[in-house]
Amino acid sequence: MPDGFEKMPMPKLAGNTHLKKTLRLIKSSPGYISGEEIARALRISRSAVWKQICRLRQEGFSIDARSGAGYRLLSLPDKVSAYEIAEGIETVSVGREIFYYASTESTNKVAKTRALNGAADGSVIIAEEQTRGRGRLDRNWLSPPGKNILLSIIFRPGIQPREVFSLTMLSSLGVIKAIESRCGLSASIKWPNDIYIGHLKTGGILTEFNAEQDRVDFAVVGIGLNVNFDPAGYPEIAGIATSLSRESGKEISRVSLVQAMLKEIDTLYTVFKRGGFSQIFVQWKACSMVIGKAVTVISQNRMEHGVVDSIREDGCLILQVENGGRKQIFSGDVSLRFQE
Ligand code: BTN
Repeated sequence: MPDGFEKMPMPKLAGNTHLKKTLRLIKSSPGYISGEEIARALRISRSAVWKQICRLRQEGFSIDARSGAGYRLLSLPDKVSAYEIAEGIETVSVGREIFYYASTESTNKVAKTRALNGAADGSVIIAEEQTRGRGRLDRNWLSPPGKNILLSIIFRPGIQPREVFSLTMLSSLGVIKAIESRCGLSASIKWPNDIYIGHLKTGGILTEFNAEQDRVDFAVVGIGLNVNFDPAGYPEIAGIATSLSRESGKEISRVSLVQAMLKEIDTLYTVFKRGGFSQIFVQWKACSMVIGKAVTVISQNRMEHGVVDSIREDGCLILQVENGGRKQIFSGDVSLRFQE
């Protein structure tokens, strides 16, 4: 069982139909829409409409209320709120339930707690800020509030522990496809789970799971993506990290990128559940930036130099070492550096 489980207060579910419908109505209205019209459409009282307006304002929507005229949407929140994300996507399982946090310790931690409490396959936990965001190998994940994408997806595919890396692979492929379609950037995968643009890291994936004997009860795939911030201002990562806005030279809509990511991952996950992993693997491998490269693989107390020969479907990296032999490197607790 992964670490860090504790009971925590749950935020209100982000699935309120009245709220979504109210938002949809005021969004689609060119001018003011009266409280009466909303009340009629939703079959609720006008005071219930007012409550929805107050909740939307709490969510960061700026809504003008004018007596005799009604309500008008002035601006959307610069937030990756569940309402905004859910509004534009249709998926089979990924993102059907979205839980939004303005701030939380770690979305992976919340996801694990929610999964233990029965959250559905494909549930997404997303936050503006993490107070203890975690990376692989027990590192911190640095991300200023409101700038990037920090989310975790709960998967319940009924697989064996040795297959969990497939979920990391399909998720990173989904991220790459979304970056391409929404930002026009070509990103690649640095085995095992980093997202790169050129030679700079722009995202990472932390996958954890809970298994009983040979069956995975749930896996949590945590995705951190640098979107609208400039890592140059952070000495810890300056020079090794980048962001999508920096690479594209423009501000990126986080909501639209999250929607694209969830859609892509959902499609790949559906293929995966139908037994189509081989076709995902072919695409994933085509995005790999390590094959044929001279690298150093670092594990707890060992360093291995060589050239990456290939990566197998189970995620194992085959390293051609200097004495001519080949070594199998599993993705566990290792990191990989390119040789100069
Ligand atoms: C890495 O490159 O080391 C993996 C980074 C993973 C970071 C993400 S952000 C969302 C999720 N919650 C966490 O605490 N970590 C992952």
